[in-house]
Amino acid sequence: MAPMGDNVVVSNMKLERMLSMKGGKGEASYANNSQAQAQHARSMLHLLTEALDGVRLSSPELPFVVADLGCSCGSNTIYMVDVIIKHMTKRYEEGGCEPPEFSAFFSDLPSNDFNTLFQLLPPYGGVSMEECLASDNHRSYFAAGVPGSFYRRLFPAKSVDMFYSAFSLHWLSQVPDVVLDKRSTAYNKGKIFIHGAKETTANAYKKQFQSDLGGFMRSRSKEMKSGGSMFLVCLGRTCSDPTDQGGAGLLFGTHFQDAWNDLVKEGLITSEKRDKFNIPVYAPSLDDFKEVVEADGSFIINKLEVFRGGSPLVVNHPGDAAEIGRALANSCRSVSGVLVDAHIGDHLSDELFSRVASRATSQAKELLEQLQFFHIVASLSLA
Ligand SMILES: C[S@@+](CC[C@H](N)C(=O)[O-])C[C@H]1O[C@@H](n2cnc3c(N)ncnc32)[C@H](O)[C@@H]1O
Repeated sequence: MAPMGDNVVVSNMKLERMLSMKGGKGEASYANNSQAQAQHARSMLHLLTEALDGVRLSSPELPFVVADLGCSCGSNTIYMVDVIIKHMTKRYEEGGCEPPEFSAFFSDLPSNDFNTLFQLLPPYGGVSMEECLASDNHRSYFAAGVPGSFYRRLFPAKSVDMFYSAFSLHWLSQVPDVVLDKRSTAYNKGKIFIHGAKETTANAYKKQFQSDLGGFMRSRSKEMKSGGSMFLVCLGRTCSDPTDQGGAGLLFGTHFQDAWNDLVKEGLITSEKRDKFNIPVYAPSLDDFKEVVEADGSFIINKLEVFRGGSPLVVNHPGDAAEIGRALANSCRSVSGVLVDAHIGDHLSDELFSRVASRATSQAKELLEQLQFFHIVASLSLA
C-alpha cells in the first residue's frame, strides 16, 4: 500500500485561497488546454457585441473601464478584452467622438498564474491611439491585475463600464459543508461530483450556487457605472434536474469518477479520502440563474439563454483514440488538477489522470459524439 497523505496540502483550506487553473505552459496547463473555451467564446461574439452596443458612451475625457472576471492565465482573456475595446472604439468613432483611453482589469483568485498571463500581454501602445489600435502586436489599453473573489467587492463604486466573465461562474466558492459531512443526508458518499448523486446533495450545490451568484450580483451592482453592462457566460444545463449536470456531468462524473474508484480499488487511497474530494462546480439551469438575478433586482435582463457551446475536446486526429483520451485527461486536469494535487499529492494525481486518459481512450468514439457543453449566456444592465 502506497503511503497516503504525502504532499497533501491542508484539505480544509479555504477553496478561494487555493483554486486556480493549471498555470505555466506545460502539457496540462490551462494556457495549452483552453482552445475549446476560445472556440465557444468566439461562437458567441455576436451576443457580446449586442451587449456592447447597449453600453452608454460616457465622456471621452474619462477612461472606459473593462473588467474580465475569472480571466485565468491563457490568451483567451487578452483576445476578448481586445474585441471589447476595438468594438467600443468603433462605436465612439462612429458617433463622431475621439475614443477615450481604455483601462482593462484582469481579475481572478490570488493563486491564478498572473505571471504567465502578464507575459502573454503585448506591450502598450504605439505613439498614438490610432497606431496602437491598428497594430496587432500592441495593446491599446492600460492593464492591471486584480486578485480576489468575484463573489465579493473587487472595485470601487461606480467605476466599471463593462464586466465580462466567461466560463467561471460555475465554480462555487466552496463545496457545501453538508456534502462532506457523514452525518448529513446530503453526504456525497462514493462520489466526487453531483452528477447522478442524491437529490439532497445536488440541492446543496444549487443552494451554494445561488448564494454565490447573489453575492456576485450585489457586488457588481455597486461597482458598475450607470449605463454600464455585463456579459456573463458559464457552464449550464438544459435539464431541470440538477443531478443531471449535462456536459459537466460527463467531464467530471464518468471517467474522472471511475479513475478515483480505481485508486480506491487498487489501495492507493482510502474510500474516505476519495469521499472528501468533491468538485466545486455547478452547471445551473436557466431558471436557477434567473431566480437569482430577479431576486437581487439590481439588473435588467437584456438576454438570458442557454447556448450550445460544443465539445470541450479539441483534437487534431478525431480517429486517434489515444489523442482523445489524452485530450480529456488534460482538459480535466487543466481545470481541476490544482485541487487534485492538493488533495492527494502530485504523484497520485499523475496516477489518477493517467487512468482518466486510458479510460477515456477506450470510450473515445462515444466521448467525441456525446460530450457537449451548454452555456448560460446573460447580458445584463443596471435596472
Ligand atoms: C475556466 S477558467 C476561465 C478562463 C477564461 N475566462 C477563459 O475564457 O478562458 C475559470 C476561472 O475562474 C476563476 N474563478 C473561479 N472562482 C472564482 C472566484 N470566486 N473569483 C474569481 N475567479 C474565480 C478560476 O480561478 C479560473 O481562472
